[in-house]
Amino acid sequence: MDAAGKEEISVEDEAVDKNVFKDCSKIAFYRRQKQRLSKKSTCQALLDSVTTDKDSTKFQIVSEATKVPLLAEISGIEGNIFRLKINEETPLKPRYEVPDVLTSKLSTVRLISCSGDTGSLVLADGKGDLKCHVTANPFKVDLVSEEEVVMSINSLGQLYFEHLQGPLKQRATKENEEDASVETSQENQEDLGLWEEKFGTFVDVKVNGPASIGLDFSLHGFEHLYGIPQHAESHQLKNTGDGDAYRLYNLDVYGYKIHDKMGIYGSVPYLLAHKLGRTLGIFWLNASETLVEISTEPAVKYTLTQMGPVAAKQKVRSQTDVHWMSESGIIDVFLLTGPTPSDVFKQYAHLTGTQAMPPLFSLGYHQCRWNYEDEQDVKAVDAGFDEHDIPYDVMWLDIEHTDGKRYFTWDKKRFPNPKRMQELLRSKKRKLVVISDPHIKVDLNYSVYAKAKEQGFFVRNHEGGDFEGVCWPGLSSYLDFTNPKVREWYSGLFAFSAYQGSTDILYIWNDMNEPSVFRGPEQTMQKNAVHHGSWEHRELHNIYGFYQQMATAEGLIQRSKGKERPFVLTRSFFAGSQKYGAVWTGDNTAEWSYLKISIPMLLTLSVTGISFCGADVGGFIGNPEAELLVRWYQAGAYQPFFRGHATMDTKRREPWLFGEEHTYLIREAIRERYALLPYWYSLFYRAHVASEPVMRPLWVEFPDALETFGVEDEYMLGSALLVHPVTEPKATMVDVFLPGSNEVWYDSKTFAHWEGACTVKIPVGLDTIPVFQRGGSVVPIKTTIGKSTGCMSDSPYGLRVALSTKGSAVGEFYLDDGHSFQYLHQKQFLHRKFSFCSGVLINSCADERGHYPSRCVVEQIFVLGLKKKPSSVTTHSSGGKDQPVAFTYCAETSTLSLEKLSLNIGADWEVHIK
Ligand code: NOJ
Repeated sequence: MDAAGKEEISVEDEAVDKNVFKDCSKIAFYRRQKQRLSKKSTCQALLDSVTTDKDSTKFQIVSEATKVPLLAEISGIEGNIFRLKINEETPLKPRYEVPDVLTSKLSTVRLISCSGDTGSLVLADGKGDLKCHVTANPFKVDLVSEEEVVMSINSLGQLYFEHLQGPLKQRATKENEEDASVETSQENQEDLGLWEEKFGTFVDVKVNGPASIGLDFSLHGFEHLYGIPQHAESHQLKNTGDGDAYRLYNLDVYGYKIHDKMGIYGSVPYLLAHKLGRTLGIFWLNASETLVEISTEPAVKYTLTQMGPVAAKQKVRSQTDVHWMSESGIIDVFLLTGPTPSDVFKQYAHLTGTQAMPPLFSLGYHQCRWNYEDEQDVKAVDAGFDEHDIPYDVMWLDIEHTDGKRYFTWDKKRFPNPKRMQELLRSKKRKLVVISDPHIKVDLNYSVYAKAKEQGFFVRNHEGGDFEGVCWPGLSSYLDFTNPKVREWYSGLFAFSAYQGSTDILYIWNDMNEPSVFRGPEQTMQKNAVHHGSWEHRELHNIYGFYQQMATAEGLIQRSKGKERPFVLTRSFFAGSQKYGAVWTGDNTAEWSYLKISIPMLLTLSVTGISFCGADVGGFIGNPEAELLVRWYQAGAYQPFFRGHATMDTKRREPWLFGEEHTYLIREAIRERYALLPYWYSLFYRAHVASEPVMRPLWVEFPDALETFGVEDEYMLGSALLVHPVTEPKATMVDVFLPGSNEVWYDSKTFAHWEGACTVKIPVGLDTIPVFQRGGSVVPIKTTIGKSTGCMSDSPYGLRVALSTKGSAVGEFYLDDGHSFQYLHQKQFLHRKFSFCSGVLINSCADERGHYPSRCVVEQIFVLGLKKKPSSVTTHSSGGKDQPVAFTYCAETSTLSLEKLSLNIGADWEVHIK
């Protein structure tokens, strides 16, 4: 690497220093809101101003403090969702409303207004079991479901709206005098950061002045909240103390600290609340810097003896207050009313889209390193996998593969023949992923730069020139992906004719797209940089990376003329990024605590729509000892995006470099992943079509079991497997909680079983990955593992049928060509259903619309939990003869094994066990 590059790495290293990043006390809009809210002033809804049309009901709100009229708009959205928008009635200029996130198919539901008394307004959805009860003075909205108030908005009076004002000099001081919140002395202006905000040596000059917004939500009876990624924090959201709000501000934080609420690479301003009997969601559609405060009052039982001679008992309901604050934009909030977790997942997907259906290869194992040095290195690493009989699907190339960090080019010395290298990978049905960052080296001889400059495709600085900042290539400009024309042009760069040396097995990794700007304020772009439409960067900072991934995914689709599914990994993301590919958790560290926190971090992404997520296996920074690396592979094998990655100054750590025993253990972990691919792929199909997260916290599967609400050291993969990765060094035992009082759980290897609703002590060796199959489920697997997913397409299947306490089980299986859109356009897919009841296992069609020929057979079936040895087993195929089947039965584990079967996976058949 060149000297400039080295210098930049040390810049990134320094970023671990928390002084580079702001805490709440250094954020001016936070201080302003706190100051104003301490002065208690109220807002009033003017209900005589109500107007209603088919889409929404509108009315004015006036704040006692500012007197400036706001316009509130309430609408109902199909699927039991309410939307509340609040904007200035007549803003000095338009305020930013986040485009491109909501799916276009949203249709509104007419709300019926059944006016309450004079001081209130009641809006009901057609069915009448959900109502919005608006109280005029002070302004408050209650969300009522079946006569129960489940959520109140502005009941704490934290509605806050800074109205846009003219430039500083022209502003009438009179106006300020009227506004109790804005004091005009020079000192105060600076402290409040109204028109200018300092941070270290950086000065943020705000042409639009203060524009911040805020609102509170009280969730009645709720103590458990989840969501608002991305933080290196627990899955369940914590109470925020003074100055310790969750921050949503996309930042490049190298080696981020764990158990911290600071903002890291991506933001989804969406949280879920869960209690027995109800799940709710709040989606705050705002892309500017956002802070979220959470305060939970648990339920308390009071014994009131002072009330009279008879002691009275009263149970006070728990409540959680959530306070959202954003630097600018408007209030545009969606209330997802559930009532079940899966209803909330559907409602959120209805708004922002579902997980893109990944190409099958991308669910295999990915091998990355910063950097694989040259073609020879790639060849050797690729061969290493074969020599050690370890399956893998994707080789990755980091920034050094380019000519001086000029994306879309190759370093000619290191990679003289990129196509030849890709052909080698292709011969093993493997793929290549290369990096493409949003910063473009300032170099007029670099055609990407020259063309973008010529067409005005870069973000601009506030003086009107192209914004320039330092990143990997040195001085760079940043593509303005918020401009649809830029996205279109950028997508075109992935065309095979434009991207020299690329082939159809090359896919893309978008990194540094927060965007990361070395030496910028908090390592990112100045907030007063200017985007398409003259919007300041501050308005849309959190959505910048989303747009790059969108344009990249579109580019990959276009290069295949619409035929092939893209694969794009992004570091930065926003609500809706699930539509464009996968996300990973950035620069983690090779320490046990980072392995452990990967689970809650991924669970949080999963419940906020981003199912395709993972963490760097092994830890990006530092050198994992062999035991940690093994445990990380074992955990990663059961996480959706499975990639080993390491930074440049680390020791090489390909799976075979830690001695034979460890190579064996890593191989076994990766092979377990490959064996389960049919299950993974079927789960991704469900995520894609039915918004079900792939990786699920226990509370999602067991919403009525209070004990599950805080669990984050184990999780469900789909509804059938419970995974409890070992995340402690030298572990010999783990405590596994097996939920559900009517459940039975089977150890996925030994087939030993336990009844649910208990914690069991599971002895673990270094080869143990504690995975349990839930009774009542059928899990499809592959029985033969190949070099890569592509090499396994014809290999046989097995079924793991785990019987419930009632002796039944169900499961499903999805298959298509694994790479194209034909499953969608031509319905070329196979969707099967397996059910076991009264000793009969049936394979039947789950979706008659789909057709996909498969020659693959089910060759092995294990039935777990079969109480007694059968006297006969026969298979029945439609149109065929009944066939007796040889079987073995293990009384100790109550397991029936059928081997050497030859039942077509896509055909109707039955297995009768008598
Ligand atoms: C930062 C990313 O997080 C990391 O994964 C990558 O290796 C480096 N940038 C270099 O591209």
